[in-house]
Order: sequence, then C-alpha cells, then structure tokens
Amino acid sequence: KRVGVLISGRGSNLHALIEACQYEPDYPAEIVLVASNNPDAAGLQKAADSGIPTLALDHRTFDSREAFDEALDRNLKKAELDILCNAGFMRLHTEGFVKSWWNRHLNIHPSLLPAFKGLHTHERVIEAGMTVSGCTVHAVRLEMDSGPIVDQAVVPVLNNDTPDTLAARVLDAEHLLYPHALKLVASGAVTIEDDKIVVNHSE
Ligand code: GRF
Repeated sequence: KRVGVLISGRGSNLHALIEACQYEPDYPAEIVLVASNNPDAAGLQKAADSGIPTLALDHRTFDSREAFDEALDRNLKKAELDILCNAGFMRLHTEGFVKSWWNRHLNIHPSLLPAFKGLHTHERVIEAGMTVSGCTVHAVRLEMDSGPIVDQAVVPVLNNDTPDTLAARVLDAEHLLYPHALKLVASGAVTIEDDKIVVNHSE
C-alpha cells in the first residue's frame, strides 16, 4: 500500500515507520510521501535522507485553514496514497479534509484514548495518579484524538516519573505500536468500516 505521512516536527514516529517499511520482511506498505506544515521539521530531512519525496507547505502562507487543507489534499491526492498517517502533525484538519481521507487516515496519540485527549498528556496522567498510560493508533475523525481504535500499547507510570520520563517511555512504545498498527491496516488484517474496527481472520 502507498502511504503518506504528515509531520510537524522531530519525526521519530516517521523514522520508526520508515525503518519498518525498509527492513521488516514483507512489510505491506511503502512510504511514498512525507508532508509537513512546518518547513523546518527535522523529520523532513530524515525522509529526504531515506530517499522519500517530501513536501513542505507552510500553513502561515495560506489565508485560511480551508485553503491550507485544500492545497494539502490536492498534493496528497496526486501521490495516489492508499493510507495517510499523522505522526506528530500538530494542525487540526477541516471537515472537508477529514471526509476526503475517511477510514484511510490514521493518527497516533500518546495516551490510552479516549482518556487524556489533547496536549500536555503526560502531565495530566501523572496529576491524575494513573498507574498506567500508553499510546493509541486510531482512525481520524473531526473531533481531535477521536475515532475507531486500531491498536493500543500500555506502559507503567512509575512513582518518580516526571512528564519527561513518562513521555520517553510512551514514545518508545509508540515506535513499536505505529508500525504494527499500520501493518494491520495495510495488510487488510484490520479494516475500518463505518465507525467500527473489523478484524479479518485469514483462513
Ligand atoms: C508523539 O508523541 C505523538 O504521539 C504526538 O506527538 C509526538 C510526535 O513525536 N502526537 P515525533 O515527531 O514522532 O517524534
């Protein structure tokens, strides 16, 4: 399957996906485009170093959120993607964009959704006294960090954790989870139908 990845920054999840595509035998996906709303995103360099075409569309140069999303959508469509993966993409999408990629669009969030949507996740998890946290890969819906859940991974929250130490543990789990979840979707082992995840058992 032809996969596009949207990033805004560091791109460590992108890196994990690139590695899976390159080194995992019979991995059912290839990354054919990496796009960013931030021309300075470090992940763009990572992609270029791996020989993957990149696209930087600076959202600040567009008049509206709609205009940015329409331009992004046009470019992604040109790349004939089967699946679009958000990996640390920090812009909310318009309704038109979400509909355009409906059930072909994944996101990773560093909490056990539906708990702890949004920013400052790890601070809030520690504040709430949680003993576990984790990460979630889900299909994108208009409401931020919502949508059918493809897969999750759990990590412990330790007594002396700070938001940074917890973030690092969750990030390690993200780097395993995202390639695994993309594999499930790209191989057809899991499909997203209406608002449900369907697990297809092969004979
Ligand atoms: C990750 O924690 C991801 O879950 C969140 O933003 C972070 C992106 O990190 N949405 P990176 O750019 O993949 O390194």
